[in-house]
Order: sequence, then C-alpha cells, then structure tokens
Amino acid sequence: MNVLVVGGGGREHALVWKINKSRKVKNLYAAPGNPGIAKIATCVNILPTDINGLVRFAKEKNIDLTVVGPELPLSLGIVDEFNKNGLKIFGPTRAASRIESDKSFAREFLAQYDIPSPKFQIYDSAAQALKYLKTINTFPVVVKAAGLAGGKGVFIVNNKNEYERIVDEVLVQHKLGEAGKKIVVEEFLTGQECSVFVLTDGLRILYLPSAQDHKRLYDGNRGPNTGGMGAYSPYPMSKLVTDFIKEVIVQPTILCMHEKGFPFKGVLYAGLIITPSGPKVLEFNCRFGDPEFQAMVPLIENDIIELFLGVVDNNLQDLQVKIKNLWSICVVLVSAGYPFDYKIGEEIQIKGPLDTGTLLFHAGTKIEDGKLVTAGGRVLNVVYAADNLRVAKQKVYEEIKKIHFNGMFYRKDIGSSGMKKMKRKRKVR
Ligand code: GLY
Repeated sequence: MNVLVVGGGGREHALVWKINKSRKVKNLYAAPGNPGIAKIATCVNILPTDINGLVRFAKEKNIDLTVVGPELPLSLGIVDEFNKNGLKIFGPTRAASRIESDKSFAREFLAQYDIPSPKFQIYDSAAQALKYLKTINTFPVVVKAAGLAGGKGVFIVNNKNEYERIVDEVLVQHKLGEAGKKIVVEEFLTGQECSVFVLTDGLRILYLPSAQDHKRLYDGNRGPNTGGMGAYSPYPMSKLVTDFIKEVIVQPTILCMHEKGFPFKGVLYAGLIITPSGPKVLEFNCRFGDPEFQAMVPLIENDIIELFLGVVDNNLQDLQVKIKNLWSICVVLVSAGYPFDYKIGEEIQIKGPLDTGTLLFHAGTKIEDGKLVTAGGRVLNVVYAADNLRVAKQKVYEEIKKIHFNGMFYRKDIGSSGMKKMKRKRKVR
C-alpha cells in the first residue's frame, strides 16, 4: 500500500514510525513531515491546509490511505474532499469534526444528550457576557474561545477584572480572530484529568490505551498552559470509572452523533476530568493527542494500518486492539521561552547512542547547513516504555541527559502523578 500522513509534529512522527512497521505498507509519505520523519518516509512540501494540493498528490502517487494528524485540515473538510475524489482517508468529516472545532456546538450537543459535562453559557456579544458576570459568585471560571485557537483559546479566570479583560480581548478586540467569534463560559471543575482514545467507524468502538497529559509548563502543574509537556500511558483507572466512561460518555456520544446525521469515523479523543461526582467531559477532540499518542504508541501491538482500514472500511467488528502490558512515558523537550516567544536555530546534539528501547520523535526541528537545529517551541519527544512506570520514568530521564540544545527545558515530574495514584490504590487495598 502507499500511505500518506498529513502533518509534521511529534504526533505525526509517532504515526509514521508505527505505520512504517506495517507489512502492508510499501511507500510511505508525509506532508510536510520533519527531519525525524524524513529518515523513514518521503517528506513532501505540502501544507496540511493545502487540501487541493494533497488531493492532487494522493492521486499522482496512487495513495491507498491518507492518515490525518492535526485538527485544522479536518475542520477544513479534508475528509469530505478526499471522499469526493474517491480517495481513502482516516479521520472524521468536517461536520463530525465540529465536536472539536466548535466548542459551543459540542457543549450544546453534550447537554442535549445529558452527557456529563460542566455547566456552561455561550456568548457572541460582550454586553451579554458582561451581564452574566453579575451573576457569577465563585471564581475561577473557564472562558473558552469556541473555535480552533491553536491551544491559545482557554482561560482560567480568577476574578471579575480578569473576566472583563478576556471578554474585551476576545469579543471586542477580536484578538483570536474567527476562533473568538463566540465564547463558552464554563464551570471550573477540579480532579485528575485524563485522555481517552477510541477508534470508531461511527457505530462500533475500539478502545486504545488511555493517557494523562501534562499541560502546564512547570512541575507540580504550575505555570502557563502549553500544548503538552509530556504524558504517560496508560492512565490508571478503576473498573467502575472505566465502565462509567464507556457507558455514560463515549458510547452515547458516538451513537448520538450517528443519530444526528454526522457519524464520527476516526479517532475520538475524550479529554476528561474525574471529579468527586464522576467523570465529566472537558472537551472532545477529533484526532490523536499530542503528546499522548507518542506515549501510547509503544503499547499498541496491532498493525495500525489494519486498525485504520477497519475504521475506514467499516470492518471494526473483526478487529481487537491488543495492548502490551507496559507503561510508557513521553517527555517533551522545549525551547527556552516556550509557550511564549522562543528562540529557534539552536543546534541539537545527541551525545552517544540512545538505548535501543528509547524512541525519539521530532516535533520542531529542521536541518540547517547540514545540522539538526531547533525550529519550534516543542522540539523533541523522548519516549520509553517498561514493565512499570518507575522504571520507564528513570530510563526516560537518563536518556534525556544525552540530548542537548541551548535553552533546552523539560518537566522533571512526568509520570509522578500516576506513580502516586497507584501507591494510593495499593494502600487502600
Ligand atoms: N494533548 C493535548 C492535545 O493534543 O490537544
């Protein structure tokens, strides 16, 4: 088969790495890819948003399956366009991807079907949003831009002044452009966050390993929000919580999307919070998580192309996900200054061979004058899987010591909350 992966970050490098292991694959391409991907696939200089360019390329190279990494091309209708042209593609249609690309639509949909979620209000006018402020008695509240804002559209608002400022910036000054045409004001929930991933053909569901992302910049979940500083997989959950998530959140969502006429085909990512009153939906995404996918990929035993084809061809009933009994950690190495202004062009040095069990997925890197240099905020993902989380953590941090670039920064506590959670469980027993 000829396969094309759309995207060029750490998640797409992990996808290409896994797809490259499939015996079904003959030629593997990535658009635009990155220097890590270029070692195992042919990178083509087409942007993920250039949908006509991607259709042309897929026809020219007789691509049998296209796999889409990021949300933006999905929200622009890449799947609809490929389908129109008779090309196979893994991912949801534009209508189904609204579950991520329009947070006001997602909240109303979940409320309509009583799927556990925070309380919310939707505003497209600053006057209405400010009128609502008068009724808020407890802070923080969460204000979200309804559209895709590249990870910059979620604000934890601690007081009235902050609320007024955010409303002004988003709804009056339009600092987030189209993404901020509407806002969703949500109840702030507390609890552990986790990411649940399922493959679905619109009706049938296969569960992939779960994960926990670490969105804040600093250890102990402090500092500004980022695109994700690391993840571990699986996220330890009791049977009770797992069953609740399956029966009360995931299955109803997929069945109701089908009933509403926009069936979801692809990977559905449920961003959940386990509150004292049970799991609730913080957000749904219409693609794999980044960096969660990098953490979970070594746990998936299957030929991933078989799973993707099962979704595309509606054959999931014949498949089972085989998950290795391992624990995996992904630590993201970022540029100094990330998630704000950061410097690029720093030479990346890898001293000595990495352990054979280590996976190194590129995100923001490029080749300049024959050298590998930094080219983004999130630069590299270092992944290690082992029999237990403690060993995975020890090994991943040992391996990171071999990697250097000026200003390199990373969290030192990825996996710690999972280890604590399991220790507590052992004590309770
Ligand atoms: N891990 C956060 C995201 O992929 O959106």
